[in-house]
Amino acid sequence: MTRPFIYVTRKCSKEQLQPLYEIANVEMWPEEEIPCPRELLLEKAKKADALLTMLSDAIDKQLLDEAKQLKVVANLAVGFDNIDVRYAKERGVVVCNTPDVLTDTTADLTFGLILATARRLMEASDFVKNNQWKSWGPLLLAGHDVHHKTIGIVGMGKIGQAVAKRATGFEMNILYHNRSRNEEAESRFGASYASLDELLAKADFVICLTPLTEETRELFNKEAFKKMKTSAIFINVSRGAVVNEDDLYEALTKNEIAGAGLDVFLNEPIEADHPLVGLNNVVALPHIGSASFDTRYTMMNLCAENIASVLKGEEPKTRVVVK
Ligand code: DGY
Repeated sequence: MTRPFIYVTRKCSKEQLQPLYEIANVEMWPEEEIPCPRELLLEKAKKADALLTMLSDAIDKQLLDEAKQLKVVANLAVGFDNIDVRYAKERGVVVCNTPDVLTDTTADLTFGLILATARRLMEASDFVKNNQWKSWGPLLLAGHDVHHKTIGIVGMGKIGQAVAKRATGFEMNILYHNRSRNEEAESRFGASYASLDELLAKADFVICLTPLTEETRELFNKEAFKKMKTSAIFINVSRGAVVNEDDLYEALTKNEIAGAGLDVFLNEPIEADHPLVGLNNVVALPHIGSASFDTRYTMMNLCAENIASVLKGEEPKTRVVVK
């Protein structure tokens, strides 16, 4: 019997993918920071039984139509907006993601971004490194407090809840907005449900954690930023397309809001000359929400486990379910 063929679209740890090497012929794109070119991905997909993909790979109709043998796509991310999941379902291709295992790591990063933006940590660090520190000053690099402020979490899924849990340690007042009420967040962390408008008007920190869907695309636009406090700090750890970046730039430069901490952008990677990066009140990170060694290795393990299950005809641990 011929062994199945699995294509991994980015250099991953072979140790974590070991179970796949035992059951299949595995090929891997050798670069860590350069994505697999589209043409090559299409060529590999044509003969692949399984793909282990990154959020930068478009798994669209064209690819799914051409990938006649494809049985499973395992995305190394909790988000799956890069995959046409509905069409994959129509074609009988199972899609898997990596929920749960990255929750705490992403919540830690979210809080790091809140603190870095509010307390101007990057500016302060550059200040020292650039030899600008000449004296202690009463308002030198003064920022905004985080403790006891109001945090507004838009998207109260598992990561939202883990952020809420951390916010209780800072004795913050927690508001959230979500498609449906989250009773666990209310009872465990004292979070209060708010309409989006109420949250935007009251929160000192507006945290975007909502997945990218047609409903959430550009949810944070001119109107939304105008509803926020002028002292508000906007944090995005979800997807860049949930924000209208031109509107965010305008809100920041017209002092309609005080700052932004951004782990994600509309077109990634961005260049250093991206308008938002040039602003002192912006902390910009290169989409590292879940990037700890432990978590990324666990995500690779989970992708391997999911692929192996589907190829054996078993139910994968974390299948993406669409209605
Ligand atoms: C995800 O898992 O969707 C993250 O954005 C990747 O870090």
